[in-house]
Amino acid sequence: MNEPGFALLDLGADSDSKELRRTMAEVKNQLDDFHRMHTSRRLDYFWLGRFDQQTTTKFHRDNAPDESILILGYEPTRVQSRLSVADYVRAAADRGLSPREYLNQCNPMFSQGERELLPYVTNIEDYQPEHFQILVINNSEADTSQKSDRLLGVLHKAEIAKRMLGERRIINSIMLASVSKDASVSISERDLQTFLESDQVAQKNY
Ligand SMILES: [Fe+2]
Repeated sequence: MNEPGFALLDLGADSDSKELRRTMAEVKNQLDDFHRMHTSRRLDYFWLGRFDQQTTTKFHRDNAPDESILILGYEPTRVQSRLSVADYVRAAADRGLSPREYLNQCNPMFSQGERELLPYVTNIEDYQPEHFQILVINNSEADTSQKSDRLLGVLHKAEIAKRMLGERRIINSIMLASVSKDASVSISERDLQTFLESDQVAQKNY
C-alpha cells in the first residue's frame, strides 16, 4: 500500500470473525512495535467495539486523541459499499493551515467543505464486501508545526449503496492512541478478551 494514511489487508472469504479479530490484535502489536521503535511513545488500546452498521457517513475522523490509529475489521456482507479516505493534512498545508484549522474552516460535513476535499480523496478500490478485511486508518489530527515524528492522519467515509433489511454489515473496531511509554492502560486484558471472543454486536444507526 503506497497511498497516504491507510492500509487494507484482505483475509479472503474463508476466514472467520474470531480469526479476523485476533489478526486485528496482531496488527495492533506490530504497529505498536514500529511506533516504539521510531518514536518515544507507544500505541495503546483506546476503545474496542463491534457494530452492525448500514449508514452512509461523510468524511470525518473518529473521536479519539490527536494521534490515533483506527483498525476496522470488516466481516463479509451482501451490503455493497464504497470506502474512501481524504488527505486533509495535505489540503490544509496547501492552504497554509494546520489540520485542525482546516477542519474548523472547511468542515467536510457541509457540501462546500466536501467539494474542496475532492482532489485529496482516494477511493479504496480493493475493498471487497464479501471478504474478511482489515482497514487500518491513521485517524490523527496532530499539529504539523510540532515535532516531525507526529502522526499525520486522513479522514474516512463509507457510502452504503443500498440498505438491506435483514442483512448485517458487521464492523469490528479498535482505536489506538499514541501515549507516553509510562502512561497507564485504559483498556483491561478482560476488555480485550471480551472483544476477541464475544458474539455480541451493537446496532449503530449513525
Ligand atoms: Fe468513522
